[in-house]
Amino acid sequence: MCGIVGCILDKKVAPTIIESIKKLEYRGYDSVGIATVTDTINVKKGSGKIKEVDDEIKLTDIDGNIGIAHVRWATHGNPTKENAHPHCDCDNKISVVHNGIIENFKELRQELIQEGHIFKSETDTEVIPHLIEKFMKEGNDLLKSTQLAIKKLIGSYALAVISTEEPDKIIGARNESPLIVGVSDNGNFLASDVPAILNETRKVIYLEDKEIIQLEKDKVTIMDINLNPLEKEIKTIDWNPEMAEKDGYDHFMLKEIFEEPQVIKDTLFESEKIKEIVSKFKNFNRIYFVACGTSYHASLVGEYLIETQLGIPTEVILASEFEYFQKTLDDHTLVIFITQSGETADTIKALKVAKPVSETLAIVNVVGSSITREAHHVIYTRAGPEIGVAATKTYLSQLICIYLLVAHLGENEELIEKLHSIHELSLESFDREEEIKKIAKRYKSAKDFFYIGRGFNYPTALEGALKLKEITYIHAEGYPAGELKHGPLALIEEGIPVVGILPPGASYAKTFNNLQEIRARGANMILLGAENDTQIDDVEDKLLFNSTIDEIIAPLLYIIDLQLLSYHISVEKSIDPDKPKNLAKSVTVV
Ligand code: G6P
Repeated sequence: MCGIVGCILDKKVAPTIIESIKKLEYRGYDSVGIATVTDTINVKKGSGKIKEVDDEIKLTDIDGNIGIAHVRWATHGNPTKENAHPHCDCDNKISVVHNGIIENFKELRQELIQEGHIFKSETDTEVIPHLIEKFMKEGNDLLKSTQLAIKKLIGSYALAVISTEEPDKIIGARNESPLIVGVSDNGNFLASDVPAILNETRKVIYLEDKEIIQLEKDKVTIMDINLNPLEKEIKTIDWNPEMAEKDGYDHFMLKEIFEEPQVIKDTLFESEKIKEIVSKFKNFNRIYFVACGTSYHASLVGEYLIETQLGIPTEVILASEFEYFQKTLDDHTLVIFITQSGETADTIKALKVAKPVSETLAIVNVVGSSITREAHHVIYTRAGPEIGVAATKTYLSQLICIYLLVAHLGENEELIEKLHSIHELSLESFDREEEIKKIAKRYKSAKDFFYIGRGFNYPTALEGALKLKEITYIHAEGYPAGELKHGPLALIEEGIPVVGILPPGASYAKTFNNLQEIRARGANMILLGAENDTQIDDVEDKLLFNSTIDEIIAPLLYIIDLQLLSYHISVEKSIDPDKPKNLAKSVTVV
């Protein structure tokens, strides 16, 4: 899950390209590199985050009006300087950045070594510049050589290529890894994702698999794999550059949590579109949700909602496990894919399995992303760009879409009305922030955390625990309240923090009893419950919510406090919550 950028301007390109690649740092921060073309290929790269590398080697200190850049999330080879992109051919005349995985790189590398090519890294990517070199030496131009090279590749790629032999262009190509073209009067761009180009242009061309691009200063040519030119639509995006800036907040994650009330409002505007999609549905006798990570937890809330409100058997499957369920698909099954990025490789793969047999619906945040072009129906979450690696506002926007979907499927006006009260209620989370900070200080050194919920709020417990793991590196587990006594209770000891999620509703009494069992074993309870709940008066650490929030809508509101709790523990531990170690926002490898 690397990020790539290519850019042609009529001035020095490095400052623009480094600003662009910073916007893709959510895709990987193991290393960064830039290459420009003048009469030579000029490369600067290093391992670590952009800021660290830039402080050391001044990435913008490089001439040339045409350049490519890369941020890496290591797959093949350690995150060293040698393995950092861009990678070059033997003569340093060709330079390539790549996002994806070349599955047959070992065979290709072996062949190229036998032909005399010298490799300098352990990456799969390095076969690409050497293949292009080989075809150029056979007399082909850069475009043709890139085409011949990619015809040899098995796997996924979004790539950008420059060469001293043709120093007026960038060649790009995509297959199963995202790549867009940005066009403007001042120059043209290639990038893995929209935020990278928002400062320069909002005019975007979305590329399909197996398309090849020739980027020149005043011209963009898009071709199919056989180099036949294609007519492509230029779309104008409604995101603005400020949306991809921190806007005075210390971190993107905090900004994105504070944006949640607005995101709720914006996503509720999708209600009519969702109603229209629902009107086209036939009668399904089964629903699958397919997703990964946080989107998986949003799907679990969907399962509880659909089964309790609509009585349709529903199952949530991790996208990476979906292929094992394919024999159960039929044309009376609806498969719902939830994905913020629309680019998660496992989810795309699952969609390709389901689409020929069942009706598919994708709930996606990124307009024009791969999944939106595959699914039968698409609902957009209106969260705007999310830069923090740990999903926050997009989770909430996914939930809003799921609730609207269920409300329209069941023609449940009461639920729709309830959803319109969420915006006001969500603002109250920020009144509790000082209390949350105190709790964060108290528990920042904990080694383990448990999050306990039941029914609709079991997924809230899972998502709360995931947020904590991701950005504080504290071991955390979400558990259904009733299941604790079947094992994990053995781990409860004096002082261990346990987050109890206890909204009013049908499951209140049972959950309350389970939480008492945990307290009786010495755990330190952090309780999220209703402000009129007198039974929890004696709990020291409490986050009290408006009593009108019942267990059905609690997943939309209680999670905001849990996101803030993880954020503040992360800050207390001096961890950068926007860039947790080993993780990337968009996982484009299976
Ligand atoms: C990565 C991210 C998670 C995200 C998951 C699924 O693991 O770090 O935050 O939930 O991918 O991503 P998607 O874009 O499909 O929702």
